[in-house]
Amino acid sequence: MSTSNTKKTLLVTGGAGFIGSNFILYWMKHHPEDKIINLDALTYAGNLENLRSIQDSKNYIFVEGNIVDRDLVERIVADVDMIVHFAAESHVDRSILEPDAFVQTNIVGTQVLLDLAVKHKVKHFHHISTDEVFGSLELGKDTQFSETTPYDPRSPYSASKASSDHLVRAYGETYGLQYTITNCSNNYGEYQFPEKLIPLAITNILDNKAVPVYGDGLQVRDWLYVQDHCSAIEKVLESGSSQKTYVVGGLTEDIPNIEVVKTILKIMGKSEHMLEHITDRAGHDVRYSVDWSHIKKDLGWEPSVSFEVGIEQTITWYLANESWWRPLLSDNQDYFKKNYQDRT
Ligand SMILES: NC(=O)c1ccc[n+]([C@@H]2O[C@H](COP(=O)([O-])OP(=O)(O)OC[C@H]3O[C@@H](n4cnc5c(N)ncnc54)[C@H](O)[C@@H]3O)[C@@H](O)[C@H]2O)c1
Repeated sequence: MSTSNTKKTLLVTGGAGFIGSNFILYWMKHHPEDKIINLDALTYAGNLENLRSIQDSKNYIFVEGNIVDRDLVERIVADVDMIVHFAAESHVDRSILEPDAFVQTNIVGTQVLLDLAVKHKVKHFHHISTDEVFGSLELGKDTQFSETTPYDPRSPYSASKASSDHLVRAYGETYGLQYTITNCSNNYGEYQFPEKLIPLAITNILDNKAVPVYGDGLQVRDWLYVQDHCSAIEKVLESGSSQKTYVVGGLTEDIPNIEVVKTILKIMGKSEHMLEHITDRAGHDVRYSVDWSHIKKDLGWEPSVSFEVGIEQTITWYLANESWWRPLLSDNQDYFKKNYQDRT
């Protein structure tokens, strides 16, 4: 779609979050000629520490603000070639406790961006979405999510992301917006807020605390190393077809959550006694599995980091970066208490 090598200006929304910040670092390394405007509201999940290494770069601008703020977004969008839209409330557990922000940011915020992208004739709108919009697969079967799987979201988070996907496609059909969408699986890697399974397990183990596992822990997820996700987005931005969706994943076989935690315990030299089964999440999807053969065939992308290598790298990163994650635990104690200690 956007094949030209000329200098571009990208608006990255949610660029201070986990995947957005990894993407900005990746893009600035591989496309130093481009300019990036990072619009982020700095919610609990936004952290400018992630971007410290490029904060003074002449091709990088940070704007603190909300994607729901139409006037602000309009001032920015007027000068951009591409929007890469990561900003979202992204954690299923928080969506169960407090869904309002998910509707506001994920649905209303996306609509504001779409309106202004159409108004200002932005050349390419790329929407980052999730495989969770497809619902849940049966355990023990070899069925997989693909670009043609019908939507069946089952949590406030996935329902809000599904709504945003529908809006993006509707703006394509109705107003001719040039867009692409990626629906990817669970990401892991450096700079992930320690509320998600892998960094939660690593940081609890480092603090000699039990690792909570929902229910029997047999739920299955596909795991995508965040750097591989960034390279997939790059492929889609550079050569994806307009008005097309790509499903992105990292694995070729199922790994139950309990095995993920056992692997982390083993690498960190700890006993499985540190596992603690807690009351299952309400409406917990049991299995996600992603058929990423289409993006491989169409764009030549495939994951380059195996789970075995990616998980080692991730543990090494958290070991070396305690000063990054430690303050996040103390600043968010109320959430951790509400979500975990009250459920054991
Ligand atoms: N993390 C995953 O495993 C995963 C998997 C599939 C899809 N996704 C999608 O990828 C995107 C990024 O996920 P993530 O894990 O990096 O999320 P994150 O929660 O780490 O980061 C979200 C970022 O968006 C910002 N933000 C939130 N509300 C905003 C608003 N109203 N205006 C401006 N900025 C706002 C936050 O401050 C934060 O920096 C999301 O759209 C998410 O749905 C994530």
